[in-house]
Amino acid sequence: MTGSAPRRLVIFGASNIISDLFDCALANGLLPAKVVLHLPESAGERDIPLAARIAALKGLCDAPQVETLDTFQPGAGELYLLGPTTPTRANLAAELERRFGLRYHTLVHPTAYVSPLAQLGQGGFVGAKSVIGPGACLGDHVFVNRGVTIGHDTHIGSYSRIQPGANLGGASRIGSGVTVAIGATLLERLVIGDGAMVGAGAVAVEDVPDGVLVLGVPAKFKKAL
Ligand SMILES: CC(C)(COP(=O)(O)OP(=O)(O)OC[C@H]1O[C@@H](n2cnc3c(N)ncnc32)[C@H](O)[C@@H]1OP(=O)(O)O)[C@@H](O)C(=O)NCCC(=O)NCCS
Repeated sequence: MTGSAPRRLVIFGASNIISDLFDCALANGLLPAKVVLHLPESAGERDIPLAARIAALKGLCDAPQVETLDTFQPGAGELYLLGPTTPTRANLAAELERRFGLRYHTLVHPTAYVSPLAQLGQGGFVGAKSVIGPGACLGDHVFVNRGVTIGHDTHIGSYSRIQPGANLGGASRIGSGVTVAIGATLLERLVIGDGAMVGAGAVAVEDVPDGVLVLGVPAKFKKAL
């Protein structure tokens, strides 16, 4: 008996989250087949280079092919996902839309729980052990890292990212391009403006305007971004 070939995941752009994308692809029986770079790699001093992240896949799957956007052509049976984080995601998606008009895959780790009453946009990611509550509605290309909880009826705008262990209360409205950093907590029924950031470990107890960073417990204005 011959099994069907695994579906091929193509990831546009690389960043530190790409290992989570590889991990989640493998957990879903997908082959991380290609990484398509839109910019030359710019790994910081403490970043792990893409080559090392790919080398770590040895023994689990064939190494993904790395190519540039200039040579990329869509192929049959491919699934697409964005690899960089906010705000680069939005720029890259616009470029890809202009060139190829692709539809994107939504990748959910098998250990995550997504309520059947929740909605996920295209190109979304939900990491291991995260919980998306009933009535939650996530826009396109929202990145939910590991161990996050999204409360009932909370809406999250496109290109936002929710980092590990963050907890978002119910019935909130989170804008587009928002970052909720590691371990942050948001009380319920809040409005978080577009492009805002709730810093690591902060507890947001009131609304946050567009484009500002709030830090601390309770979270206070730190600076405009
Ligand atoms: C928001 C963040 C980037 C810090 O912003 P920053 O402007 O670079 O902060 P700096 O390091 O310049 O520090 C500015 C001040 O805020 C303080 N500070 C920084 N982060 C803080 C935090 N999360 N909570 C409280 N205070 C914080 C610093 O101690 C410093 O205080 P000072 O003015 O008294 O010296 C950081 O808190 C954060 O949330 N990082 C994201 C972490 C994350 O989610 N990573 C993903 C993991 S997968």
